Amino acid sequence: MIRTFHVTDGVKNNTLLKNLWTMGASNCKTFSVKNSRNAGAKNSAANGISERADYVEGVVCNEKDINENEMKMLPLGDDGGKILLIKQKGELHAIGTKCTHYGALMHTGALGEGRVRCPWHGACFNIKTGDIEDYPGLDSLPCYQVTVNNKGLVNVRARRKDLELNKRTKTMCKFDAANKKMAVIIGGGPSGATCAETLRQEGFTGRIVMVCKEPILPYDRCKVSKTMDFELEKALLRPQLFYDENKIETKLNVEATALDTNANIVKLSSNEELKYDYLYIATGSKARKPDVPGADLANIFVMRNHADSVGIVSQLSLEKHVVVLGLSFIGMEAAAYCIGKVASVTVVGRDTVPFRAVFGPEIGERAKREHELKGVKFIFGTNIAKFIPNEDDTAVKEIELLNGTVLPADIAIMGIGSTFFTEWLKDSSLEMKEDGSIVTDQYLKTNIENVYAGGDIVYAPVYSSNNERAAIGHYPLAHYHGKIAAQNICGKLTPLKAVPFFWTTLFGKSYRYAGYGKADKIKIHGSLDDLKFFTYYFKDGKVIAMSSVGRDPIVADFANLLYEGRALTEEEVEKDPVAWMRHKPKDFIKKDTSSEKSNAPVPDIKSFTPRPDDKGTRDILEINKEGHIIH
Ligand SMILES: Cc1cc2nc3c(=O)[nH]c(=O)nc-3n(C[C@H](O)[C@H](O)[C@H](O)COP(=O)(O)OP(=O)(O)OC[C@H]3O[C@@H](n4cnc5c(N)ncnc54)[C@H](O)[C@@H]3O)c2cc1C
Ligand code: FES
Repeated sequence: MIRTFHVTDGVKNNTLLKNLWTMGASNCKTFSVKNSRNAGAKNSAANGISERADYVEGVVCNEKDINENEMKMLPLGDDGGKILLIKQKGELHAIGTKCTHYGALMHTGALGEGRVRCPWHGACFNIKTGDIEDYPGLDSLPCYQVTVNNKGLVNVRARRKDLELNKRTKTMCKFDAANKKMAVIIGGGPSGATCAETLRQEGFTGRIVMVCKEPILPYDRCKVSKTMDFELEKALLRPQLFYDENKIETKLNVEATALDTNANIVKLSSNEELKYDYLYIATGSKARKPDVPGADLANIFVMRNHADSVGIVSQLSLEKHVVVLGLSFIGMEAAAYCIGKVASVTVVGRDTVPFRAVFGPEIGERAKREHELKGVKFIFGTNIAKFIPNEDDTAVKEIELLNGTVLPADIAIMGIGSTFFTEWLKDSSLEMKEDGSIVTDQYLKTNIENVYAGGDIVYAPVYSSNNERAAIGHYPLAHYHGKIAAQNICGKLTPLKAVPFFWTTLFGKSYRYAGYGKADKIKIHGSLDDLKFFTYYFKDGKVIAMSSVGRDPIVADFANLLYEGRALTEEEVEKDPVAWMRHKPKDFIKKDTSSEKSNAPVPDIKSFTPRPDDKGTRDILEINKEGHIIH
């Protein structure tokens, strides 16, 4: 019989088992041993809990209590410690319980082959090592030693510190002044930040310089429109100390202005010139402003940076009127944040429903209804004609729409999509598309040797869409690009292999989405009224994407399916919408495959095929030329 033990780096054979007691388990490697009943018995408490100062150890269950491909969160020790026990391929693994991003309980996520995916935003962790493999979040999970004794009792041994922290930062190599190689990263978003630290994790000992146009360290940009008054310190991806300790130089408030790929030089707004050996460009998107009279008046905001949210929050007060332009994520999130804090919030859009291009009109209609219930007003089928100033001609006072309506507007928020921050590269020899995105291969390498690009700005292969290229503006993907670029810079040839995953959160409900592409048919299962549903997006009879609200972990499970190269057809899900699911929460099937009764005007189960004229009525400002979603 085969048993699995998790031990720290360097422990490779059975003779070392007796040493396991004194070893940490923070960076596990797995090996299997035959006939380990004796070893297990020798190394584990037969029952109950034995604890030493730095370690907690105890029996967590009987091996029969956990089935193949099952995850269980189990207590360990008497200080409230918990571990996630996973059985796969007959082996047992124990890792941390909470996602290192925002703490979702991983046993409620989706177990794939060798990795568990967080149900909330799609981060993935290796079940054998706890290493983070997909994002968001930057840290890995701790991994604990598991043994099974001759009575079948499963014993777990964990470092107390790991159990308490529930996360670990991967080992970083040390900067070596003798290594004269220099990696320059342009852009301090999630992509740049992940690249910088992955370089150190992958053994790059040379100089690393990260150039950031914003005056602050990389932070969670998703908060900008969802929680505008967020605390910056808490939203930083890493504190300054982290960069100092790992000798990652950060140049804040500095912008790259030109690139000379012949001389390998990046010019900076500080007049400095950086001579790189490797360059990673991840400058992200630039929020659009409408090109209409008055657009430069004060109190007209875009939503991209921390500074934008600070500006808006400083203006909010109960007597003011807010007008939001745009029916996609930024606009809807901004409206949800502002309502209740001001006199009125009106959302203006060219379409007749929010989110049509991404979620489909019915989900959009439902989201609209939720906004309306909270007091948000909508004006559809029009756009802004001009911003009208106040008496001293400084700030916006009113907005005139193309349909002639004039709205009071003390604050105007523009959520009308974005372009790419790549104008500074226009005289370089990088291959770029007309829209300004940078073309890369599956290793994120541009047409120039040693120049890589990632995040929002790249037109790169999308693994789950047959490696067709696209520019996708999602937060997890931006992180992931940073990792892949760093691995390739370090010579560890690694192709992109990710499934696009994103979410929006409105009035406490998260809408999740995995996959990519323009659907020709949509089918919703469950109750839109109760905001408990999941949706299939079909193209040519194949499921290309899924969304859900209140139905975790179906979207994460679907992302795993795509990641593993499997496909789901319309025929399959017509027969049984959840037969393919590996992780069906109890009562999931009963609730979501039957047509629930609902008082809502929107039917519970409904097929939708876009009308031919839907294309023309889309709010095209929120997606780029090729129909790609830009938040
Ligand atoms: C308000 C908001 C909410 C969002 N919410 C979600 C969400 O809920 N879920 C989701 O999946 N995605 C969300 N997104 C999208 C997500 O944030 C982006 O896809 C992601 O941040 C892209 O990362 P990046 O590193 O490529 O670029 P960015 O995060 O844009 O970072 C690039 C950085 O580089 C800087 N820069 C630009 N030009 C230069 C230059 N020449 N020199 C130096 N620095 C430069 C920029 O100022 C910026 O600081 C949201 C986006 C916004 C704006
Ligand atoms: S909480 Fe897990 S990915 Fe966000």
